[in-house]
Amino acid sequence: TGMFTYDPGFMSTAACQSAITYIDGDKGELLYRGYPIEQLATNCDFLETCHLLLYGELPDAAKKANFTKLVTNHTMVNEQMQFFLRGFRRDAHPMAIMTGLVGALSAFYHDSTDINNPEHREIAAIRLIAKMPTLVAMAYKYTIGQPYMYPKNDLSYAGNFLHMMFATPCEEYKVNPVLERALDRIFILHADHEQNASTSTVRLCGSSGTNPFAAIAAGVACLWGPAHGGANEAALNMLYDIQKEGGVEKIGEFIKKVKDKNSNVKLMGFGHRVYKNYDPRAKLMQETCNEVLTELGLENDPLFKLAKELEKIALEDEYFVSRKLYPNVDFYSGIVQRAIGIPVPLFTAIFALARTVGWIAQLNEMIGDPEYKIGRPRQLFEGSPKRDVKPISAR
Ligand code: CMC
Repeated sequence: TGMFTYDPGFMSTAACQSAITYIDGDKGELLYRGYPIEQLATNCDFLETCHLLLYGELPDAAKKANFTKLVTNHTMVNEQMQFFLRGFRRDAHPMAIMTGLVGALSAFYHDSTDINNPEHREIAAIRLIAKMPTLVAMAYKYTIGQPYMYPKNDLSYAGNFLHMMFATPCEEYKVNPVLERALDRIFILHADHEQNASTSTVRLCGSSGTNPFAAIAAGVACLWGPAHGGANEAALNMLYDIQKEGGVEKIGEFIKKVKDKNSNVKLMGFGHRVYKNYDPRAKLMQETCNEVLTELGLENDPLFKLAKELEKIALEDEYFVSRKLYPNVDFYSGIVQRAIGIPVPLFTAIFALARTVGWIAQLNEMIGDPEYKIGRPRQLFEGSPKRDVKPISAR
């Protein structure tokens, strides 16, 4: 006691040194390996972003082709996975399924899961990035009772995901390029975000020398929470609730509840530990939201209108202004995903799919760090001093 500094929520403790993602919360800036998120989201696709996060540089055309080939080589999952899936209730939450499936992947690659072996880590990274979309789509198809669609490797990463989600063996499925681009952007915006709760979980879990699939499964479990990855689902459910109660006219009442100290109601999709100006991802997401709704003829979508109005009112309200609460990426990503046809409970699983590359890049960085040690936080002990056990009759 007394030797350690207590820092609840790691508000001022750096848990690692990192060269991957930089956030300037006051300026509302997000850089992956030095590149602004706006430029990546506009000029690159998700697999280029994966290459950047994993290897430190954007690929040239030849490297991109190689990397794409490597990933597409691994898009299928072992057929046994289907039997594992069958153990779940049909109405299981996709994140419950994903925590299980990702952990179960460890069992298929006994010969290549030594986290301290760079070649093992490399192949595990490729397998995870390649298989996450397949697993998420399988979890979805399972819950609706449709046959699984095998990956189509001539499609883009996002296009293949749309195919596995929405195609059936009965008819030709054509990927809509606007939706494909929107989904790809969602993936890019969620790919990494430095030392957030799930990434820190992956690092801590991996620091024990466990296998990479197990470490990523721990990240999936952490991401599930509504204060983290679950926020996109929670944000959309919040909009549905306000809509049910009367829509735009009821915003005032809802905001009142949020401001009431005793209510515990939060404006989901608002606020961020690091961004105290705005979340640059939210701006890009709003842009994508406009594009997708226009493409689908949903410009007058009442939920989108409600979200915009809610944002406007909150941004003018003293409560939110004084606390520097701005919309985060999840405020609009739910509306985009819903418009694409993705069911609400799947949103967080898609976040997990996209964040997988960030988790792996961070895990690799940690293990490559010569100062890396098992993560072992200390505590300030506040319990009983030493005492003697009495016989049960005397307690
Ligand atoms: N609605 C209403 N009040 C809020 C909100 C919100 N969304 N967020 C923070 N506050 C208040 C909070 O009650 C506190 O007020 P007071 O000082 O009067 O006690 C003040 O603002 C500071 O908040 P905090 O909880 O100390 O901030 P934090 O850094 O611990 O929490 C957060 C950050 C993201 C967990 C929080 O803002 C939140 O719960 N937001 C809603 C959930 C959400 O949208 N999460 C997604 C984050 S972005 C994607 C991701 O990283 O997964």
